[in-house]
Amino acid sequence: DKKITIAIDGFSSTGKSTLAKQLARTLGYVYVDTGAMYRSVTYFAMQQGLISREHFDKLSLIERLSEISLQFLFNPNLGYAEIYLNEVNVEAEIRTLDVSNLVSRVAEVSEVRARLVEQQKHMGDHKAIVMDGRDIGTVVFPDAELKLFMTASPETRAQRRFEELTAKGQQVTYDEVLKNVQERDYIDSHREDSPLVKADDAIEIDNSHLTIEEQFEKVMLLVQEAA
Ligand code: C5P
Repeated sequence: DKKITIAIDGFSSTGKSTLAKQLARTLGYVYVDTGAMYRSVTYFAMQQGLISREHFDKLSLIERLSEISLQFLFNPNLGYAEIYLNEVNVEAEIRTLDVSNLVSRVAEVSEVRARLVEQQKHMGDHKAIVMDGRDIGTVVFPDAELKLFMTASPETRAQRRFEELTAKGQQVTYDEVLKNVQERDYIDSHREDSPLVKADDAIEIDNSHLTIEEQFEKVMLLVQEAA
């Protein structure tokens, strides 16, 4: 089979990364989590005091974007790549609710998007890639052979995210998580630059009532048709 590009977009916590990792592992493709890139830029901005709940110094962040270097390094123990911000593994740091609460504001900034999208396009130069995010099928890989758009009810998604965070020992409530998921969906789908929308040629998958295995089997058939 020929190597293809698989673009996965959708709302927060719709299981994009679970599916993308399964596909990459099975197909021997590279998996790229673009949300991790926006989260890492947000974490940098937080560390530098450029953003908090109360203020956002957008101009300084834009000026300092050149200080940010992002890299994905494959971790053989996990079977997927982890993100490094200026040579430091920040996988744990970027998955907190604090980062989740600010990331959509950073992702609205066009200069941030332009930088990350450029890097993402390069990662796809040789195909054999599964990338997930919000604008992959629309902006990063408009010519992807397979585009998926994932949805699930907000409650299903908040419940999944809540279980994920508490399993990692984070102190959060279901209501906080639901609120975050709804807020991010709103900002992500209403921003001016590259809003979250289903590409015309994307296949929508509502997984509210699908198990991970059922979803995977369904998508593998689509991959076979596209490849
Ligand atoms: O995928 P994840 O939920 O980790 O993404 C975190 C946030 O990063 C999203 O809510 C969105 O604001 C932003 N994002 C984006 N474009 C992408 C990936 C993520 O704007 N391609």
